[in-house]
Amino acid sequence: VVVVLDFGGQYNQLIARRIRELNVFSELLPFDTTAAELRGKRLKGIIFSGGPKSVFAEGAPTVDPDVFNLGVPILGICYGMQLIAKTYQADVARGAVREYGRTDLEVQAGHSKLFAGQPTSQPVWMSHSDVVTHVPEEFTLDAVTTSGTIAAMSCPEKQVYAVQYHPEVHHSVHGMDLLRNFVFDICGANGDWTMDNLIDESVDHIREQVGDKRVLVALSGGVDSSVAAALVHRAIGSQLTAMFVDHGLLRKGESDAVMENLGRQLGIDVVRVDASERFLGKLRGVSEPEKKRKIIGEEFIRVFEAESTRLGPFDFLVQGTLYTDIVESGTKTAATIKSHHNVGGLPEDIEFEIIEPLKELFKDEVRRLGEQLGLPSDLVWRQPFPGPGLAIRVLGDITQEKLAIVRDSDYILRDEVAKAGLDREIWQYFTVLTGNQTVGVMGDERTYAHTLAIRAVVSQEGMTADFARIPWEVLARISTRIVNEVNGINRVVYDITSKPPATIEWE
Ligand code: XMP
Repeated sequence: VVVVLDFGGQYNQLIARRIRELNVFSELLPFDTTAAELRGKRLKGIIFSGGPKSVFAEGAPTVDPDVFNLGVPILGICYGMQLIAKTYQADVARGAVREYGRTDLEVQAGHSKLFAGQPTSQPVWMSHSDVVTHVPEEFTLDAVTTSGTIAAMSCPEKQVYAVQYHPEVHHSVHGMDLLRNFVFDICGANGDWTMDNLIDESVDHIREQVGDKRVLVALSGGVDSSVAAALVHRAIGSQLTAMFVDHGLLRKGESDAVMENLGRQLGIDVVRVDASERFLGKLRGVSEPEKKRKIIGEEFIRVFEAESTRLGPFDFLVQGTLYTDIVESGTKTAATIKSHHNVGGLPEDIEFEIIEPLKELFKDEVRRLGEQLGLPSDLVWRQPFPGPGLAIRVLGDITQEKLAIVRDSDYILRDEVAKAGLDREIWQYFTVLTGNQTVGVMGDERTYAHTLAIRAVVSQEGMTADFARIPWEVLARISTRIVNEVNGINRVVYDITSKPPATIEWE
């Protein structure tokens, strides 16, 4: 394994993911993971990630000094490079020029193996305000930027390497070459890790963790919980009970469709629980997005606990949590963007031990895993749907009338997107009831009715996204149908913001 120690950048998991793309297992661990903990792993190398702090700020995260004595190569990226410079007593200073975005790199003669086979001049992606102003003794300067910033340095004898830019982002055109050089030529990894290994390792791990106890999995009908269930089912078979909770916040026809298809597709019996009154009761009059998310997160657990007395007892609960859910919910080092119902929205007192077999993966990796597990492609390629459901697509307080508007309009949108053959191309598409009312004119009469927004985005893994360029004719058909067929709507708008600065869901 190549371990990435996490200093809090939003995209740090991308580093681990890029290394997995090279068929080398990689995981992201907190920056304060100790050398002793790392010794327990089949460790090939360590990467120190980027992060928002200055290494000289009070309370700036640092590593266990013993990590430098593990005998494996270390690569520092951005903050990681500054940390290495500080460790070896070089100077780090607030840069005279801050560099954000694209800049050009000049690789120096006599550079380390990190830059083997790469052009001496190459575009890279920077995002920093501190810089290393002197290369530490025993280190060599490997690269500078055109503005003269020290961009890479190394000490092959100590097996320590560092770069100021971000090789993990696509804009650093030779970033993958650099990571490849690091993991293969410098760390000596084999590159024989695949999704099959991941399945085998997870299955072994789950068996060991669960023993002969009973496990509950809550299915939502979506990709993540289905893949998690299939994986756990492969590990422990009939010790697993699958439950589908209808919280009354699902799309049109969804509850019945899930019950008809999902059990068969997964080869598991599914128990349905109708909890819509419970959820809608708890949500009545609540309009603050984080509050809604927390209520839903808690209520799911309370329903599982109640059902556990009926069908269980269960010691473990399986959740299809992804890495994205964790980082956006906020960690020790990353800011809270929104509390995903299955992470930041969980109550503190939970009766179950939680199993999250997908928590290091991105959505597209989970899809590949699902295919590898033999799940049908219409299940694996279903568009993502958030656990809190339509509750976060009715802005403000939730009523049955508003839910009906979102359901009916979403149904039309899905129908038209499918007819236009765009359903696989667009990552996610849905309607949002904005909570605004505007004036319109219908059949010569004045109306004062709701504004509905259409949100449709393309994305690779949901961390970043761009709005989908749906053809005007298709949008026109959708708009006309929604205003004509859905009561209470007199205006339809299209959301043309990317993520960042917006997020995919509106709440
Ligand atoms: P945002 O809105 O944060 O969404 O850009 C990123 C992806 O995550 C989904 N999402 C959720 N999924 N529970 C989930 O299971 C949640 O609480 C949650 N919030 C957002 C969202 O639909 C998108 O695919």
